Amino acid sequence: MEPINVAIIYYSATGTIRTLADAAAEGAEKAGATVRVVKVAETAPQTAIDANPAWIAHLAATADTPHVTHDDLTWADVILFGSPTRFGNPASQLRAFIETTGPLWFQGLLADKVYSAFTASNTAHGGQESTILALANTFYHWGGVIVPPGYTDPVQFKSGNPYGTSHVVGEGAPSDVALDAARHQARRCVAIAAALKAGRAALSA
Ligand SMILES: Cc1cc2nc3c(=O)[nH]c(=O)nc-3n(C[C@H](O)[C@H](O)[C@H](O)COP(=O)(O)O)c2cc1C
Repeated sequence: MEPINVAIIYYSATGTIRTLADAAAEGAEKAGATVRVVKVAETAPQTAIDANPAWIAHLAATADTPHVTHDDLTWADVILFGSPTRFGNPASQLRAFIETTGPLWFQGLLADKVYSAFTASNTAHGGQESTILALANTFYHWGGVIVPPGYTDPVQFKSGNPYGTSHVVGEGAPSDVALDAARHQARRCVAIAAALKAGRAALSA
């Protein structure tokens, strides 16, 4: 297989999305990719963080996780974005990072890569699809190759979201099904990116 670089760029306040990000990293690594798991900067006021012990604990637990840089974007063949659903949309922390990418976009450096997204929400109908679709709006602008999981693996018939791995936080921590869905999503992105890379190499040979 062509060597494939995967950047998993996420925001997580209380750890759910980070758990899914780690599962996606596992899937991508098993598929032979080189993986970076990177977080976006926290922008919430300290008073909001201090009011939520789970938020404080997760920030401390991930203190060593590197912050995403533009190099992660240009380095990657596959970019997976993970964000909690916030009023039916991606978290503002992730959007804030995305909105720094204008210079890369302008140079065409974000085009032709594989993009996919995953999320979590408190309730089953709390906006998971709208969050993933909102991220996809950006992928269109970047000229990305959007790779959704669809129903391309038996786990998708259990997890039930063809747009991207999605977990309902109100039901507890991510189950094996959600984790397997994240692994599958990442594996599939790596396989498609490898096929694209091989095809491009063959065309330019
Ligand atoms: C400001 C805010 C808005 C939220 N909006 C929604 C929502 O629209 N639908 C929903 O089901 N859950 C909503 N939630 C719950 C989050 O989606 C949930 O806490 C998150 O997925 C947990 O992920 P994390 O542990 O990675 O932070 C919201 C939470 C916050 C703090």
